[in-house]
Amino acid sequence: MTDQPTNRVLPDPASPIGVFDSGVGGLSILRHILQQLPHENLLYLADSGYAPYGEKSEKLVIERSLAIAQFLLDSGCKALVVACNTATAAAIKLLRDQYPQIPIVGVEPGLKPAAVLTASGTVGVLATERTLSSDKFRQLRDQLAATTGVRFLSQPCNGLADLIEHDELDSTTTVALIERLVAPLVAQQADTLVLGCTHYPFAQQIIRETAIKSGSKSVQIIDTGEPVARQLARLLAQHRLENPNAEAATLTACTTGEPAALSAAFDKLLQKQPHITQVAV
Ligand code: DGL
Repeated sequence: MTDQPTNRVLPDPASPIGVFDSGVGGLSILRHILQQLPHENLLYLADSGYAPYGEKSEKLVIERSLAIAQFLLDSGCKALVVACNTATAAAIKLLRDQYPQIPIVGVEPGLKPAAVLTASGTVGVLATERTLSSDKFRQLRDQLAATTGVRFLSQPCNGLADLIEHDELDSTTTVALIERLVAPLVAQQADTLVLGCTHYPFAQQIIRETAIKSGSKSVQIIDTGEPVARQLARLLAQHRLENPNAEAATLTACTTGEPAALSAAFDKLLQKQPHITQVAV
């Protein structure tokens, strides 16, 4: 343990890790946490009552992120995962300033791995309008473009997270929207596509098929769920917060929307049936 003040109550390693997103998108991160950290207790919060974040004001996304973080910590969480690119871009710095003693992991579009993988030198970035217009994203993009010479094409995907949120994963509307979003990127020689929103990995298959249909020979798709779970494992070890109990861990969930909708999403996307409660945050 490093320089922890002695007069502070340290979090209990057996406490849950709080994971949140605007809705069901964070389940694409949660599935990697479940795989990599099977002994950790997890509490997932879907802010579906306020989704989608991507088309809301930065102020609202910040307010929601701060309120949810406080709720999860009040519920006894020992660490937080902001399983949402939009909330990370808007609020991660504020969250870390507010809770310096808590390990907090965020999610950002995987531009660095994309810059390494691209052969054409052009990368398409699919994300919400709010993520793409954030200072955090622009700084990362401009700095990487300057140092690697890679061209990053930003593609705001208005409406896509909302369709996935409402269980329209493979509806004709979703497929048509993905075609409109992906085809222009392929036409501009993008051979690597970054999924910069945690809802999109659930549409990865359609995104890949659309890219190939649009003329791409070998498209690479970057999803950051796995490295995020790895970073969480690293931080827990660093803070000596790994759960010492080896018995089966618990997974519980809550939502500011409809529990039945979240329950259906858990079942369909993760084949899990956690206990779900509705909360007012
Ligand atoms: N899943 C979120 C993200 O990673 C937000 C989608 C939304 O609510 O617009 O950006």
